[in-house]
Amino acid sequence: MALLEIINVENFRKVLRNIRRVGLVTTARYIVSDLLFDMKYKIDTINTEQLDNLSIDSPNKKDGIYYEGTNAYIFQKMISLVKLEPSQSVFVDFGSGKGKALFMAAERGFRKVIGVEFSIELVEICRRNLEVFKAKSRSKTEFEILHMDASEYEIPADANLMFFSNPFNEAVTEKVIGNILRSYDQTPREVWVVHLHPQGNMAFVRHPRFEVRHEAPEGYILRLKPAN
Ligand SMILES: C[S@@+](CC[C@H](N)C(=O)[O-])C[C@H]1O[C@@H](n2cnc3c(N)ncnc32)[C@H](O)[C@@H]1O
Repeated sequence: MALLEIINVENFRKVLRNIRRVGLVTTARYIVSDLLFDMKYKIDTINTEQLDNLSIDSPNKKDGIYYEGTNAYIFQKMISLVKLEPSQSVFVDFGSGKGKALFMAAERGFRKVIGVEFSIELVEICRRNLEVFKAKSRSKTEFEILHMDASEYEIPADANLMFFSNPFNEAVTEKVIGNILRSYDQTPREVWVVHLHPQGNMAFVRHPRFEVRHEAPEGYILRLKPAN
């Protein structure tokens, strides 16, 4: 990605937002880790995309949050708190955008990563990024990238790490929680949730079946409790 492509109003706003939220030093750390990630694979995940500029055929469009790739520094910090063996685990990103979290999960050695995204443009960018990522990383991770609404995704029996990087509001999150519980009831197993930048969305934290294992300024790590 050419340097000029990342000098735009949206990225400038993102930097100002982060300076207000986490200060100058941490913002600088975010910028460097994001730039290094895209430069390493020569892909674009940095540029944000507004949902109004994308073709999305879903009643949940109004409840969705615009695309912004998960910061590499935050991802590594939070995911390392999840007590699962990546090589035996399946990572699902609800609202996977251009695929950044999927690629970072693959770098950590997850057996399989699944991305669910409702914008066809972002799915196409993600699939193009995946080709480049596979060629450069020689990752053995199995990938599945689905073009669909996250609330309609039937969660597979082996999925055990559910990843949310501020994709949608509480109403949609509650539907996804119903799907997680249904999947668990059919196949009880260890299930973890990473919910980054919840921005007031307390659906997981409030839910009696989820236990907060770690709380940080960047979000929550939770574990699904067994049914009584
Ligand atoms: C903040 S971005 C997260 C990007 C990605 N998880 C990452 O880490 O790089 C939120 C994403 O969720 C997607 N999204 C929002 N609502 C959705 C829904 N109901 N179903 C599927 N995708 C959704 C948006 O299109 C956007 O790409």
